[in-house]
Amino acid sequence: EPSDHVMIVEMAPRDGLQNEKQPIDTARKIELVNLLSDCGFERIEVTSFVSPKWVPQLADAATVMAGIERRPGVRYAALTPNMQGFEAALAAGADEVAIFASASETFSMRNINCSIAESIERFRPVAAASRDHGLPLRGYVSCVVECPYEGPVSPEKVADVAWQLRALGCYEISLGDTIGKGTSEAVDRMLAAVLAELPVAALAGHFHDTSGRALDNIAVALERGLRVFDAAAGGLGGCPFAPGAKGNVDTVAVHDYLVSRGFRTGLDEEKLGRAAAFARSLRSAA
Ligand code: HMG
Ligand code: MG
Repeated sequence: EPSDHVMIVEMAPRDGLQNEKQPIDTARKIELVNLLSDCGFERIEVTSFVSPKWVPQLADAATVMAGIERRPGVRYAALTPNMQGFEAALAAGADEVAIFASASETFSMRNINCSIAESIERFRPVAAASRDHGLPLRGYVSCVVECPYEGPVSPEKVADVAWQLRALGCYEISLGDTIGKGTSEAVDRMLAAVLAELPVAALAGHFHDTSGRALDNIAVALERGLRVFDAAAGGLGGCPFAPGAKGNVDTVAVHDYLVSRGFRTGLDEEKLGRAAAFARSLRSAA
């Protein structure tokens, strides 16, 4: 009997803000995290410990981590592409770290400056260190249906990379439709391939809403048994290395959709509405 509880992992402070061109005050980022902490999320991705030359918007990662009010029961996570990022995340008190790979070679080069195989080797010590320090390790696979540089990505490649991340010790693999081009059919084919390799409880869906298809794709993933989805309050975001990528699917839209389907999210609607409004206020005017 599949669970009627669905976990939404909140992405706005990280995936949401990383692509904003105008600098956003650190204090306002902290306020966003604090507002989100009040909503009932179990996990919030706060920031990334990546090169400030590559992602200037998140150069204040350590200051944000130091400034947030930590709610008991909330895990504050950060992206860590290599040991330098892991050490910084550890020093900043991250409760969870995430490594991020791609199912497309070109996207891997553009995003983290190495091949897929090299990225797995870079992640190996991060995985070992996270285990030594008792920090849960999450993994991402980007471009699970389509790459902005290479076009369609084969479901078998996605399954292979997801399997490698799982073998490194990731408790959960988040499957990213980075540019939001996935159709229901393509997402379903991809999930079938990944589910042939990995248990459904180890998978999360990460849908960008570029084409307005994210909720349809969540429906497909729910049908396949997935119960964890990434979303960003206010629908903020996009990846700087994925031209055309728009925001993560809006947390409010996902919440409303799930509730309409009879699922429980554990989120406080009113507080979520306030956090989302604040998140939208951070977005640069178009
Ligand atoms: P690199 O240039 O190959 O790294 O970058 P390097 O080891 O050769 O180091 C070069 C310089 O970077 C050195 O500084 C290092 O200190 C510094 P310099 O001596 O030139 O002054 N450096 C770092 N600084 C801070 N933190 C670090 C770090 N590592 C090296 N951790 C690297 C490799 C991965 C660091 C770089 O390519 C990078 O930072 N890329 C950014 C990737 C990123 O954040 N992308 C967006 C997030 S992924 C995403 O959005 C997709 C997702 O949402 C799922 C989906 O939607 O698909 C997760
Ligand atoms: Mg993303």
